[in-house]
Amino acid sequence: MVGFFEMKKINLYIILVTLSSIFIACSKSNEGCTDPTATNYNPDAKEDDGSCSYKTSANTGGPTPSPIEIPQLFLQNINPPIIPNNNPQTVEGITLGRKLFYDPILSGNGTQACASCHMPEFSFSDSAKFSTGITGAMGDRQSMPLYNLAWNYGEKFFWDGRSNSLEAQALGPVINPVEMNNTWPNAVASLQATSTYPTLFDAAFGTTTIDSTLVAKALSQFERTLISANSKFDRFLLGQESLTLSEANGFAIFDDPDRGDCAHCHGTANNPLWTDNLFHNNGLDNDASFVDLGRALVTGDPNDNAKFKTPSLRNLIYSAPYMHDGRFKTLDEVIDHYSTGVTISSTIDPLMELQANGGSNLTPSEKADLKAFLLALSDSEFINNPDFQAP
Ligand code: HEC
Ligand code: HEC
Repeated sequence: MVGFFEMKKINLYIILVTLSSIFIACSKSNEGCTDPTATNYNPDAKEDDGSCSYKTSANTGGPTPSPIEIPQLFLQNINPPIIPNNNPQTVEGITLGRKLFYDPILSGNGTQACASCHMPEFSFSDSAKFSTGITGAMGDRQSMPLYNLAWNYGEKFFWDGRSNSLEAQALGPVINPVEMNNTWPNAVASLQATSTYPTLFDAAFGTTTIDSTLVAKALSQFERTLISANSKFDRFLLGQESLTLSEANGFAIFDDPDRGDCAHCHGTANNPLWTDNLFHNNGLDNDASFVDLGRALVTGDPNDNAKFKTPSLRNLIYSAPYMHDGRFKTLDEVIDHYSTGVTISSTIDPLMELQANGGSNLTPSEKADLKAFLLALSDSEFINNPDFQAP
């Protein structure tokens, strides 16, 4: 039998429990996660109770794959792009790489980003002959345009091919004294001290601990997305647009071993890269005036003196000046070089034979046509692509 006092105790207990649950319910509606970027954001919460949780690699099962979309002409004609197994393309990695590419935080005094010398409007090159580093010191080579880098099959980067992967390349500029003039420990410490970067690295690579390898991986992922494949000539090859007479004639000259003879090194209609990715001496100087030994600086072989990477011919309208030392300001100067200006030296490419034996002596109208064809390789969609601009 339950006594009177016991009944009272039970009633009191019930009243207390009811009251406290009302109290908890009231406080629940006021407190919660007030950060709209959190996964458990409570729009009704007035006071933050410290319960916010965020999307991390641990709770999302890792970053979201973002495979490269291979353009149709590339699919039809050339081998697949090179994506290292240990650095797959992901949405989060590309986003991070793009931010890093445009962020001067990587440089010694916080003033220079990769994009300072690789600007989208110049096809990710620099309009200056030589780029100036943060100390005011000047490099001695023209900045290279950046596109279709995942199709550099030999994986030899720079004018002399001294770097063997995009990831390795990305480590260079930050510590180059005539470029960003920083140290990696310093660059990493700056990133680590921000409120944003540790979270972005976590989303991309599953760790908030930043290091130079991860910076290089993110930069490379972004660089691999820089694909140029929509020039007028591409659209012509796809049957979507027709060439002017001048452009068509220019292409015939480009291809003709007795006139332009350009296709040997720069490829032709079946090579949407417009480069053989190899190293040649295209007759700029004689032995006595070799200033930059190019490929020989890497191989130590005098047979490689003054050989440089064949550049692609896309987007030339945006990327002047031309050649490894930016010596030619215009395409007319380039065409004059190949037509009548070739200089003989010990390492001149045998494929320059035609030009070397008195030159191809193109007529003014042939030169104009060749130029019209080269300009039809310009891809304005590429340089204006919103995904590639500063975030
Ligand atoms: C001060 C100017 C400058 C800055 C800053 C700079 N670059 Fe460059 N970049 C150059 C020059 C000049 C070359 C060619 C150098 C050579 O061949 O020795 C080059 C070459 C490259 C290449 C080789 C492309 C190819 O087709 O072989 C890549 C990739 C590249 N840079 C990426 C970057 C990245 C990523 C950053 C930022 C971490 C960066 N650059 C910062 C001037 C710069
Ligand atoms: C023997 C191989 C070879 C042949 C043939 C050749 N080129 Fe080149 N081309 C190169 C190399 C290598 C370079 C870079 C040289 C340097 O910077 O020192 C180059 C550079 C260029 C550039 C400068 C691009 C830039 O981004 O700086 C243009 C434009 C060009 N070539 C167009 C042509 C045309 C047009 C023809 C035919 C008339 C032609 N090439 C024939 C190998 C060749």
